[in-house]
Amino acid sequence: MSTRIAELDGGIEETGLSHVINRDQVDLSHGVILYVEGVTVSFDGFRALNDLSFAIDAGELRCVIGPNGAGKTTMMDVITGKTQADAGTVFLGQTIDLTERTEYEIARLGIGRKFQKPLVFESHSVFENLELAMKGPKGVWDTLFYRLDSEQEDRIHEMLKRIDLAERWREPAGLLSHGQKQWLEIGMLLMQDPQILLLDEPTAGMSEEETERTAELFLSLEGKHSLVVVEHDMEFVASLARKVTVLHEGRVLAEGPMEMVQNNERVIEVYLGR
Ligand SMILES: Nc1ncnc2c1ncn2[C@@H]1O[C@H](COP(=O)(O)OP(=O)(O)OP(=O)(O)O)[C@@H](O)[C@H]1O
Ligand SMILES: [Mg+2]
Repeated sequence: MSTRIAELDGGIEETGLSHVINRDQVDLSHGVILYVEGVTVSFDGFRALNDLSFAIDAGELRCVIGPNGAGKTTMMDVITGKTQADAGTVFLGQTIDLTERTEYEIARLGIGRKFQKPLVFESHSVFENLELAMKGPKGVWDTLFYRLDSEQEDRIHEMLKRIDLAERWREPAGLLSHGQKQWLEIGMLLMQDPQILLLDEPTAGMSEEETERTAELFLSLEGKHSLVVVEHDMEFVASLARKVTVLHEGRVLAEGPMEMVQNNERVIEVYLGR
């Protein structure tokens, strides 16, 4: 049993899940939750990020697009502390410099991240996955041996509805479709009530219908959380109809509404390779 608990602990740690603390200490007085300022990251002299700057408003749903190798995933690695910036700063609100924090501290400050592949506990039920996520690493023991109070149960049932899995709550997560696993993991991240949620290509491999539902889910989260969604699926980005940041060669090439960036000459050149 103890090995199993240790494995679960490790699993949760790796997905970056942990309780949100000190949320109130984030200074949102300017309405901005995240400032990436002049960030440069080099790998063996190659600049994956090159003086990258942009800002995300509190409660905003932002899409980030850009060709392969533009630096989108590296940008998320820097925000979450997985990769150190060689230059520049990343501020959470007005006062907290994330470049001085560890990956673990950044997760605890309420920055959640969804990698491309779903990370769910396949042999546990859908409900238990949300339960484990809500309690965080220290709660695994509790989860296995103590009952939830009714408020906690209500929270899980609300989340099941939000992620469209209310009918599947008893089933092992391993039986879900790829898209449903993605929703479950998003639900698990949301149980931590993140301030910022970073999602790297969340709709990759989803059916058309699942992709549409994902757009609805993200729109429903707007205002409650700040979302940064990296996507290659232009139809999906267009359907969200929110501000788009185009990355290219490690910096911002264009930013604005989808129709505007789609008609931007430089963006067209980059995508069509002209
Ligand atoms: N750990 C690393 N070591 C060396 N080079 C890296 C490393 N991580 C990323 N790179 C390089 O940095 C550049 C940016 O990569 P990144 O993964 O951020 O791009 P991306 O925009 O996410 O691309 P994609 O759309 O293909 O996911 C690429 O040229 C990549 O090869
Ligand atoms: Mg990437």
